[in-house]
Amino acid sequence: METFAELKLNPLLMQSITRMQFKIPTPIQAQAIPHALIGKDILGTAQTGTGKTLCYGIACLNKLLSDKGSNALIICPTRELAVQIGEVLVGLIEHKMFIKSATLIGGESIEKQLRQLRKRPRLIIGTPGRLNDHLQRKSLRLNQTYFLVLDETDRMLDMGFTPQIEQILKYIPRRHQTLLFSATLPQNIIKIAERYLVEPVRIRVGSTTTPIQKIKQEVIRVNEGDKYNQLLNQLYERKGSILLFVKTKRNADKMVDRLRKDGHSCDCMHGNLRQSKRQRTLIAFRSEKIRILVSTELAARGLDVPSIQHVINYHLPQVPEDFIHRIGRTARAGAEGCALTFITPSDGQMWNEIQKLINPGTHQEFNNFKKFNYKKRKKFSRFKQRGNNENKPFKKSYFDRSNKNKHRRKKKFRFKKHSRRGKNRAF
Ligand SMILES: Nc1ncnc2c1ncn2[C@@H]1O[C@H](COP(=O)(O)OP(=O)(O)OP(=O)(O)O)[C@@H](O)[C@H]1O
Ligand SMILES: [Mg+2]
Repeated sequence: METFAELKLNPLLMQSITRMQFKIPTPIQAQAIPHALIGKDILGTAQTGTGKTLCYGIACLNKLLSDKGSNALIICPTRELAVQIGEVLVGLIEHKMFIKSATLIGGESIEKQLRQLRKRPRLIIGTPGRLNDHLQRKSLRLNQTYFLVLDETDRMLDMGFTPQIEQILKYIPRRHQTLLFSATLPQNIIKIAERYLVEPVRIRVGSTTTPIQKIKQEVIRVNEGDKYNQLLNQLYERKGSILLFVKTKRNADKMVDRLRKDGHSCDCMHGNLRQSKRQRTLIAFRSEKIRILVSTELAARGLDVPSIQHVINYHLPQVPEDFIHRIGRTARAGAEGCALTFITPSDGQMWNEIQKLINPGTHQEFNNFKKFNYKKRKKFSRFKQRGNNENKPFKKSYFDRSNKNKHRRKKKFRFKKHSRRGKNRAF
């Protein structure tokens, strides 16, 4: 399929696609839209920045135009993404289509959303928490929702969101069309996803484990102490907007303070900030009023800011797939972009996991890190200390204590293991 015209879409929708100047469908659009238009369930993957939003957006609006008795629901993991999807779809809705939409996200006035809902919108875009709130208040009815989209499927169906999604699904008619999209789809999530789909068409464009090729990837190995100075050097060397990822909300606040003191134009976005502030910061970043946006994982999924030229991973993500999403904030829609990652000796394990995902043949890095850690361990080992304090015997209680804490340590480790993909992945 070479043009949108070949899809035989509703004329009004075709008109707005032309108005928005989308001329040639991207591969995922060319492959998935025809199936979506005939009512098939879809499990679609395509690399970051390849037009998945428009793909389900076009199918969704065509359904709403052809079947006046049906409504649509699009669920995504973050508020900013919901707002962005809302803007893309509202951009496609012509006045004559008579389709109203509502974006239901947390952190915003519920009154405003109730007013929107009273107008009986047929297109709902939202995040799971607020959607459930409205369902419990009975202000949202989904009994005519025949078109469902879960964007960023793997994030939506990982341990954190599944219970909320299940809750929402209880309100949706049994026979509905479901479209699932993401750039990454781990094997365990595919299994969960299949539970929600009926005879799905699997559409795969490009790899789910390699970042898009247009991204120029660079790595800098540093010691923790040199990291910030190296970052400053990189910020001076580079031109254009930069998205800088850090691990925690506190790291983000601290980083902004430090960068501002060093004269950089920057701001941060994370889950502890008020929604209005988050939205203001994103608008300022989009319009290039601020050059550097410091963020936690919050900005890793789905955000489409064409001006981002560099993504810098100051800290590594906690899940390997997030690396692909993070660096996919640049080089979108065929553009070029750079991704720079800082690695310190303590990042060895996660960096190897990321390498295993995006570059399954390489094991070299792993060995280097092992050697590095081994040397470090040797340097600080108790034997060395003992050598220096030859006459001092080991404290008897050292062993006792370590045995006592064994159980405790195990417990701590177990929590850590779960928390990587777990419930409380608040960013
Ligand atoms: N057919 C098209 N022609 C030209 N540009 C397009 C087309 N479809 C989408 N785009 C543009 O491509 C950019 C990326 O689209 P989108 O955000 O949908 O990517 P995505 O595949 O959802 O990425 P991610 O996996 O990061 O969410 C947007 O700026 C959009 O306007
Ligand atoms: Mg997307």
